[in-house]
Amino acid sequence: MMLRLWHGFQLLFRPYPYFRDARITWRAPIPGLGSVLISAEAGLVAEAARHPDLVGGRAHRAMRASLGDDHLIVMSGPEHRLRSRQVRRALQAFTSDGEMAEITRQEFAGVPLRRPFSLQQIAHRASLRIILRGLVGRDDAELIGLSQAFQSSFSSPLVLFVEGLRRDWGPWSPWGRLLRRRARLNQALLQAARCAPPDSIAARLPPETWGYELLPQLMFGHETTAATFAWCFAMLYPQARQRIANGDEAFTLAYVQECMRLSPPVAQLTRVATREVRLGGHCLRPGEVLMPAIPGLHHHGWIHSDRLEPERFLQETPDPHRYCPFGVGERICPGKPMALRQLVMMLQTVLQNFDIQPLPGYRPRPVRQLFLVAPAQGAPAVRRA
Ligand code: HEM
Repeated sequence: MMLRLWHGFQLLFRPYPYFRDARITWRAPIPGLGSVLISAEAGLVAEAARHPDLVGGRAHRAMRASLGDDHLIVMSGPEHRLRSRQVRRALQAFTSDGEMAEITRQEFAGVPLRRPFSLQQIAHRASLRIILRGLVGRDDAELIGLSQAFQSSFSSPLVLFVEGLRRDWGPWSPWGRLLRRRARLNQALLQAARCAPPDSIAARLPPETWGYELLPQLMFGHETTAATFAWCFAMLYPQARQRIANGDEAFTLAYVQECMRLSPPVAQLTRVATREVRLGGHCLRPGEVLMPAIPGLHHHGWIHSDRLEPERFLQETPDPHRYCPFGVGERICPGKPMALRQLVMMLQTVLQNFDIQPLPGYRPRPVRQLFLVAPAQGAPAVRRA
């Protein structure tokens, strides 16, 4: 029991050292998941990504409960493949560069001068507006308010992770409130989707999937980018600032990729064995979980692994199983092109239009925020002009 709690604590509160500094492949008892095989071995992860008896989707109990039972992230097998094709096709359309830049400019222009603020919080609102614009072509106060109200239902993560608390005891109970806010947001998204412009994500998705897919795309499409933006900003150094502000696109993309190597916002993936599976010298019994450890994969086998060196991404494309901030195999994140483009646009826009500096003395330390790892305090900064 104590051992299980210790591993659970490390995974939740010290995700980077836990996944990076231990052995390369090991077993650990994880609360709620049983005996898990954790691996930072690129060869093993490559084998796992191709294995037909290792599926994603099944271990996401909290996500299933909070976002619904029938969306891409919690699906597996042939159903997953069909929905994945539909979602990937739809996500080829996303908010234009001009709109991304304009929304970013508006949100950062509203930050008061010479007062500390959280970069992640402002990036969160900008990213929410950007994904809403891409999803349904609208980012008005009603949709923003309903999204924020739904997200505030998770202010206590206990409601997500303790199954016993997931009971609808009416609108004043935490779970009851979450379900009602989710229903209101879903309703508003459905209404917006019916009038969405033809080049929007919603219009490219089959209407029968709207009830399941719009809400998860909205949630995953901005929380992740906001946390990544906060990391990128918190890790800036003077030459990088200069090159990004000068509009060097290739460098900006390489810089984002390198920040995501050192500080991946998603720390672990999960795959569940549907039958007995042998991987390398290890065996997974049916129902057991494999957990590819992203901070470890981004650490072992890299030259000067602890240094921030964006140039490495200008020189070569890394092995996709050693560098995987967006996941691996057929479940790789369908939002990756949009997220990378958005991060490049947001960084350039902010550095070209404002003088924003991290709070003096601040050192970005990783902290868990539900499913993500973000810099502590959302990367506090000050806007000087
Ligand atoms: C920096 C931003 C982002 C990061 C770091 C990120 C990371 C990830 C990761 C690690 C996975 C799991 C992949 C696996 O299990 O192998 C994933 C899946 C997913 N992401 Fe993202 N993501 C980001 C942005 C987005 C955006 C913008 C969207 C949509 C608009 C999105 C939608 C999804 C969906 C739908 C899945 C599930 C795919 C499946 O299970 O087939 N993500 N993402």
